[in-house]
Amino acid sequence: MEAVILHGGQGTRLRPLTHTGPKQLIRVAGKPVSQWVLEQIRDAGIRDVIIILGDNNPSRVVEYYGDGSRFGIKITYVYQGKARGLADAVYRVKDLVSDKFIVYLGDNIVPYDLSKFSKFNSSASILLAKVDNPNRFGVAVIRGNKVVKLIEKPKEFISDLALVGVYGFTKEIFEVIESLRPSWRGELEITDAIQGLIDRGKEVEFQIVDGWWKDTGTPKDILEANSFLLDRYAIRSINGEIKDSSIDGRVMIEADSVIENSIIRGPVYIGYGSKVKNSYIGPFTSIGHNCTVENSEIEYSVILDNVRLRGVSIMDSLIGNNSIVEKGGKWQKLIIGENSSVIL
Ligand code: TTP
Repeated sequence: MEAVILHGGQGTRLRPLTHTGPKQLIRVAGKPVSQWVLEQIRDAGIRDVIIILGDNNPSRVVEYYGDGSRFGIKITYVYQGKARGLADAVYRVKDLVSDKFIVYLGDNIVPYDLSKFSKFNSSASILLAKVDNPNRFGVAVIRGNKVVKLIEKPKEFISDLALVGVYGFTKEIFEVIESLRPSWRGELEITDAIQGLIDRGKEVEFQIVDGWWKDTGTPKDILEANSFLLDRYAIRSINGEIKDSSIDGRVMIEADSVIENSIIRGPVYIGYGSKVKNSYIGPFTSIGHNCTVENSEIEYSVILDNVRLRGVSIMDSLIGNNSIVEKGGKWQKLIIGENSSVIL
């Protein structure tokens, strides 16, 4: 069985961070979102992974994951380019998969047992989760243990079981995708493809996620995913140098980092080669590699790589790679793209 990770898309809701690279590479709790996906797939015993690339700096994805050996898997890359829809992306693996395969949206985090999910016996299987606002999702109407209908963003209530970003398919899906027409938004929709299976009399089964899951499509979602993953997976592991500082709770500090005259209160992740001086880093914060934080306070935030923060107090914020943020004031909900320089 193969697993296909969708790594394309436009990522418009995460601009400006996605002006320079795919959203799936944004690091939360120390790893790119798609690496959480990839490791979950590997831990379910699937070793063949196909990554579908979009047109937003796809070389960054190939550089990061390589042939997969660093992660204990084998990766094949397929180029989709322009985002023509999930079904278009899935169709591109037609000649690369065996009869059963899993598709996982690379910007979703769904901590569900994939070895259980992969044991489906119908033409397709979908993962569903109960949601409070079904009008914002694709939802499934179920009868017994089968899906009978799929509806994209229903205006009237028909079901509160939303599709989360994990699907199981057999090769039967390809014939249906061949007959699809683009939707009003110009994309080949995966919900239409699955509905096509049902319309042809094929069986589609489902499993239900009862815990936390997240589609990290917006800055708020990225911060929530970061908090959840730190809360669930952070351990106390200090590899950097600590000078005159207080390190409380589950704090992960990678090698070559230096923490000086500061307070770090976990759960927190601090990447390789970062320097924190005269600062407070509060809970649910991830700081990337090679960052410098001086005379600052940071809580509930995601700071990506090579960022310089000096004299700032920020919360609920997301700061892109290579950015500089300096000087005073208390700020919440700052979203700053890559390579920016901001004096507050
Ligand atoms: P979306 O988040 O629905 O779409 P998007 O990435 O274009 O984002 P936005 O709405 O903010 O512009 O896509 C779901 C996932 O599927 C995401 O991981 C990107 C991926 N994807 C592809 O790989 N190819 C595609 O053609 C599309 C539409 C999405």
